[in-house]
Amino acid sequence: MNKNNIVEFCFLAEPTDVNFGGKVHGGMVMKWIDQASYACAAQWSKRYCVTVSANGIRFIRPILVGQMISINARIVHTGKTSMHIYVVVRAGDPKESKTVVTNRCFITFMAIDESGYPIKVPVFIPESQEDKLLEEVAEEAKNFAKALDKDFETKLGWK
Ligand SMILES: CC(C)(COP(=O)(O)OP(=O)(O)OC[C@H]1O[C@@H](n2cnc3c(N)ncnc32)[C@H](O)[C@@H]1OP(=O)(O)O)[C@@H](O)C(=O)NCCC(=O)NCCS
Repeated sequence: MNKNNIVEFCFLAEPTDVNFGGKVHGGMVMKWIDQASYACAAQWSKRYCVTVSANGIRFIRPILVGQMISINARIVHTGKTSMHIYVVVRAGDPKESKTVVTNRCFITFMAIDESGYPIKVPVFIPESQEDKLLEEVAEEAKNFAKALDKDFETKLGWK
């Protein structure tokens, strides 16, 4: 994690990542997002972490085999036990410098102890204007996701 609380993964999309349509499988992109976010949450909390929720995952552009992928995962909001991470996936021809944003989302992790109990995490304090805006939007996403959780329980009866 760098001083801006960003973890970056960089690698090439491989032939084994591709689906029947010849593009990188959506599930593979979700795995990469989860892995980069896990590393970000673990670095922030210095503990083992589990995924709580992924909110607003958007598939904006397809990823092609052989493209260079970069995944940026950064802490943008913390609660008592939760860490909210903003993830942006970019792809481009490794021979060129141009990239496009292919995916973005918020993903939430919790740090847990050896018995599986949640642990308090260090507080994230936004400093730049961008940090403040990202935190505001992350809180909106969290509140929306929690309202959806409630609807699943109360309106749809899924426990
Ligand atoms: C993650 C888990 C431990 C949370 O259990 P819990 O304590 O009952 O969860 P809570 O409802 O109390 O919420 C815990 C935190 O997540 C936040 N949260 C809850 N639902 C959320 C959602 N949909 N989106 C974002 N944040 C959410 C809460 O605000 C709370 O954060 P805070 O303490 O900072 O306020 C439990 O659901 C679990 O074990 N899930 C399975 C995890 C897993 O297998 N992940 C995949 C493999 S790592």
